[in-house]
Amino acid sequence: MIDLKAFSFFNTLPSRELDKIKQISRFKKYASGTVILKEKEDVSDLIMVVEGQVSVIKTYGQKKSTLFTLDPGEIYGEVEILNGTKCLTTLIGYQEFQLIYIPKDFFLRLIGLYPGFAKETRDLYSRRGQILLEEGMSKSQLGKVVTFFNVKGGAGKSVISSNVAVMLAKYWQKKTVLLDMNLAFGDQAILLSLSQEKNIHLLTKAKQPLNIKRIEEQLTDHSSGLKVLLPPAVPELAELIKPEFVESIIEILKNHYDFIIIDTHNQLSDLELKVLENSDLIMLMMTMELTFIKNTKILLDLLGRLKIPKEKIKVVLNRAFKSMGLEPSKVEKSLRYAISHFIPSEGNIVVPSVNHGIPFVLSKGSDGSAILLSVRKLCARLTGEEIEKGTWNMFSLLKEVFGL
Ligand SMILES: Nc1ncnc2c1ncn2[C@@H]1O[C@H](COP(=O)(O)OP(=O)(O)OP(=O)(O)O)[C@@H](O)[C@H]1O
Ligand SMILES: [Mg+2]
Repeated sequence: MIDLKAFSFFNTLPSRELDKIKQISRFKKYASGTVILKEKEDVSDLIMVVEGQVSVIKTYGQKKSTLFTLDPGEIYGEVEILNGTKCLTTLIGYQEFQLIYIPKDFFLRLIGLYPGFAKETRDLYSRRGQILLEEGMSKSQLGKVVTFFNVKGGAGKSVISSNVAVMLAKYWQKKTVLLDMNLAFGDQAILLSLSQEKNIHLLTKAKQPLNIKRIEEQLTDHSSGLKVLLPPAVPELAELIKPEFVESIIEILKNHYDFIIIDTHNQLSDLELKVLENSDLIMLMMTMELTFIKNTKILLDLLGRLKIPKEKIKVVLNRAFKSMGLEPSKVEKSLRYAISHFIPSEGNIVVPSVNHGIPFVLSKGSDGSAILLSVRKLCARLTGEEIEKGTWNMFSLLKEVFGL
């Protein structure tokens, strides 16, 4: 039985309304690759994803672009319903997925009755409306800023962010830049075998105002085609880098790169907050340990209070192995968040790659491995281009890589 309380979108509603939603809504299961709604069709219900993942795709002339994907607990349709328009996008679900259809009139009634719910919906509307109602591609053509974050160390932020960045640059041929925002003790120079001659500190000394040419003069080239902005050569210079300066770097890079991948330090100071505010996606990295789960839950609550939109945050479970001693579905319930990605533990591939300074996505030793597969899937979701009918959600990936 589906527990609607597990979905934070309904947080502001009393239990009796959740019971009513269950009674009057339709629940439907679909096979992977099913188109649920097409552009210009009527939207008569608010849709919520219960299981699986749904891609939201918009056509611009001849080109299709995946605007975002919906994980369990995320809704679709509020912009069309509140705006009185036909469907603005096409929705396709992946893996076996399940949806709830909440009738439009019932949804509008809830908005009228519960100010907290109305606010939640209005906030989502104002963020999404900008993207969905836009005619041209201008906004969606800007580079995507993807930040790997957690306040607890050792989740794999650095290792996974560098491998994702290298893969996007080399195999997807995306113009990609990696920012190492662990300004005092960043690891990217080591992970990618780069010299720190060029770095963000030297950029502060460049002639202002900043422009793309000045930024690129301080980017270091990696053999994969990736460009990297490295931290200052010595830790004591880190505090000279101000959050507003980093924000202006991100703003400029967005106009010139497809992806800005950001590795961060384990804290939530003004710098991290600025980075998170300027991110399109926050990959909240965690491992399957109780301490991580506890901290991640506190962090998710805090990000909510700081008004970081929920749909930006994707929980990534790293270093997963066959017998984790904890059920992923229980973790999702306790976090009130779906786990979006899953990366297996493969010390025999990761450790040598770190020690040699060669990302594992480039090394022969990782060919055919589960960790390579999972990073490829993560990149496929980021680019939105390879919409394969294969496995998307983490449970199916668990099955696939462990043969469960
Ligand atoms: N999927 C994985 N399988 C095996 N080992 C992993 C995996 N991911 C990360 N590791 C190992 O975990 C360690 C921590 O990873 P990493 O340095 O990327 O974490 P981090 O979140 O950046 O940590 P910090 O907060 O200290 O910067 C690394 O030594 C790496 O070898
Ligand atoms: Mg790190």
